Amino acid sequence: MHSELFDEFDDRNARRRAWREHRETMESRPEGKRWRGHVRGQLYGAAQRAHEVLRPTRPFKRGAERALRLELTEVTVSLPDLPADFDGYRILHLTDLHLDNIEETAAVTAEHVAQVDSDLCVITGDIRDNIHAPVPLLIERLGHIVSAVRAGDGVLSVLGNHDSAAMVSPMEDLGIRVLLNETVTFTRGADVMHITGLDDVHRFRTPAAHAALDAAPDGFCVALVHSPCAADQAARRHRLYFTGHTHGGQFCLPTGRPIKSGLKRSGDLASGAWRHGDMVGYTSRGIGTSILPFRLHCPGEIARVTLRRGPETVSVGENLTDLW
Ligand SMILES: [Fe+2]
Repeated sequence: MHSELFDEFDDRNARRRAWREHRETMESRPEGKRWRGHVRGQLYGAAQRAHEVLRPTRPFKRGAERALRLELTEVTVSLPDLPADFDGYRILHLTDLHLDNIEETAAVTAEHVAQVDSDLCVITGDIRDNIHAPVPLLIERLGHIVSAVRAGDGVLSVLGNHDSAAMVSPMEDLGIRVLLNETVTFTRGADVMHITGLDDVHRFRTPAAHAALDAAPDGFCVALVHSPCAADQAARRHRLYFTGHTHGGQFCLPTGRPIKSGLKRSGDLASGAWRHGDMVGYTSRGIGTSILPFRLHCPGEIARVTLRRGPETVSVGENLTDLW
């Protein structure tokens, strides 16, 4: 028995070492096609420099203050096959924190999460905005949030396309369990729930992420993926999917429709609750802002999802959402 445990431990460490080496190699390469990556890098750099210069100005301060008016969205997902002992289980969903974009994001988020009880907190990536932001600063800010979380089963996280391999170890030092293409199992009474967490599936897409989805055990499985774009494959073995990446558009029409979702496909999964095959998903608008510290008709969001065992329904806020 002991040797099996040691073998499993060694296996996991070897897998994580291999993951890290591969991730660091990918991080050192330019993004996408060389010219496109170059243009995008130049535009991004120019926007970041403009942001630095304009940060102390009144319109920017006001925009940032408005962008940080976060909403708490209460979501209830009822499924007939939810294991009975998980009836009433509450998952606090944080995503796209971009903690270096607006300095006060961590403090405001911590204030909000301190007022919300849950059983488990999940973070679906993009802790940072600027890929050159220093890791110690991000970890210090993330630490404020994590220490305010009131979730008995702790905090799980995956990485987003803005995050780096170097963030994993200090995140785990904060007590966060970072899932790198792997599944963990939670037990309540006689029942279990499996949670599979993937590395980013855009810039850092690898076969290991897809293999992890297919390797999820039989039973009730939940997927944590930074972007909705792995929904097709996840729907084969997972019942629930938590995601972000889109910021709900960040800039929306007055109807709340994103002007640009940032998804090449799966645009209908860009915001809120959705159904894909037999799987229910929730795409949060997220907490932070990317590049420009503004939001338009698209407030930042912290979602608490309560799982119920019963006929299939999803309600978001006061509204029962008809996904079927
Ligand atoms: Fe993001």
